[in-house]
Amino acid sequence: MCGIIGYTGPLDSKKILLNGLTQLEYRGYDSAGAALCMENSHICLVRRTGKVANLKETMERITDVSHCGLGHTRWATHGGVTTQNTHPHQAGKVTLVHNGIIENYHQLTEQFHLEAKLHSETDSEVAAWVLDSLYQGDPLEAITRLVALIKGSYSFCIMFEDYPGEIYAIRNVSPLVAAYTRSGSFVASDLTALIPYTRQYFVVPEDHIVRLTSYKVHLYNLQRHEEMPELMEVNWNMDAAMKNGFPHFMLKEIHEQPEALRNTILPRLSKGLPDFTDDQIPDDIFTSCSQIHIVACGTAMHAGMAARSMMEPLLRIPVTVSVASEFRYEEPLIGEDTLVIIISQSGETIDTLAAMRLAKNYGAAALSVVNVKGSTIARESDYTLYTHAGPEIAVASTKAYSVQLAALYMIGCRMALVRGKYSVPQATEFMKKLLNAIPAMESMIAQKDSIKALVTHLINKSDAFFIGRGLDYAFSLEGALKLKEISYIHAEAYAAGELKHGTIALITEEVPVIAIATQEKVFAKTISNIREVKARGAFVILITREDAVLDGGVADIHIRIPKIGDRFTVFPIAVVLQLIAYYASTGKDLDVDQPRNLAKSVTVE
Ligand code: G6P
Repeated sequence: MCGIIGYTGPLDSKKILLNGLTQLEYRGYDSAGAALCMENSHICLVRRTGKVANLKETMERITDVSHCGLGHTRWATHGGVTTQNTHPHQAGKVTLVHNGIIENYHQLTEQFHLEAKLHSETDSEVAAWVLDSLYQGDPLEAITRLVALIKGSYSFCIMFEDYPGEIYAIRNVSPLVAAYTRSGSFVASDLTALIPYTRQYFVVPEDHIVRLTSYKVHLYNLQRHEEMPELMEVNWNMDAAMKNGFPHFMLKEIHEQPEALRNTILPRLSKGLPDFTDDQIPDDIFTSCSQIHIVACGTAMHAGMAARSMMEPLLRIPVTVSVASEFRYEEPLIGEDTLVIIISQSGETIDTLAAMRLAKNYGAAALSVVNVKGSTIARESDYTLYTHAGPEIAVASTKAYSVQLAALYMIGCRMALVRGKYSVPQATEFMKKLLNAIPAMESMIAQKDSIKALVTHLINKSDAFFIGRGLDYAFSLEGALKLKEISYIHAEAYAAGELKHGTIALITEEVPVIAIATQEKVFAKTISNIREVKARGAFVILITREDAVLDGGVADIHIRIPKIGDRFTVFPIAVVLQLIAYYASTGKDLDVDQPRNLAKSVTVE
């Protein structure tokens, strides 16, 4: 989603904005722009559709120096991908970039008679003109009047012509972080843009304004009283956000999974048992609930689906998984007896955040599983279990998924223990098996060349199916999503037994089927379902445990994962499915890390 960087200070802002926008490219975008405040206070606007490289080409032609400016990568919502719609937008004395959606922009256009003034189709330009209309020389006053009028989600960074060298920013839902250093003051939509300059930053609180001068960042509430920002330390270094010799972030992040799992699991093991004392998560939230409701989006939701299939039979209480964008507009059957588990890598996904707020309103306890420290979901949930994946840069989530699973499995194990479903030895055994999943992942990563070779059977196809039963079906959902999002091959996941109720009509020799059969209980049934598609000509890539006994002719390609407990096969399988998608994308010469139309952190509804 849109990326924002603002800088004022002694350095060349052009370079800083371009570096920042490059760091933010991973969020997903389709045009980029910058506004530079030149030494004569003139504002120079540069906007290009397409990649940041296009913007860079134009900006490099600017020879004059600037020490203050705003940069933006736009993910189109209101209006197509055109230069006019690209941010920054200028309106009278105001130059502004925006992330989010202004819901009442039509009404504001009429109220402020803006129709003739607008150059773009964006809601953001409307906000710029409204702000200019409200501005009477005091930026703080104008901004507070603006936020009283607009509805929706936003973070804005603004320059006022009368205040050269200063940047103002305000947020409600959309994220913003800020920092001041000896090299100047920074504001950005996420930390990755600030890491090259500082390790100390603060999250701009909602409904607060920041004012950046070249040597200080001031924080104000909406009553315009100054407040002290709550400084935080970055808990990862720049190396973590670099490719370090890998051709793509996605491949690097696939390789980082074993370490990410260790970082997430080991600090929470006490005498071989999961222990959340340091996370300040009390056991009574696990014992007092009579149902669990998991809410998330995208890959995080798929982690929830796998967790559900693992938890419900173990805990013998209802475990429901909801897509956050649906949940928030339903009337969910939750209350004080419900533990709501919110899963989000970024901690900023707007639907997930709104769903969590709704769940809290219903009186449910909200436990979040989040990767980004200090993110909104982490701060607003009642309890947070941080995953320690480090920064995930590729849009397609890999290591964040496996650490979410690890965290959810630990929650499941702890709940089973404190609810008396597991004895201490059983819980210890569960955790041992979870740890054994790490070498199993490593062994699949080591087989990446053979996975690359099999992908030749996929890349010239337009459709594929992923099938499995039980937990294997939950893993299939993520496998299909991964393949779709980065290789653009249409892929669907189906419960293997359901295929014959319609969808099998689509199976032909041209449709490869990736079948997962690792669950002992339903192994034979899944193999029968595979025979059904094989009989219709499908090319079958089958994933089983290494000890599976197969008759000939079931599969065209057979991938064997190490022998680990049924519940834990998701970890090595995730690696296989991620590598299939990765090599399908590279085999088609696509942009693996920044697939078309997608965003890393979805901060609009
Ligand atoms: C976007 C990303 C996905 C991610 C989903 C949820 O769609 O492209 O990779 O799974 O958002 O993001 P979250 O940060 O809440 O896990």
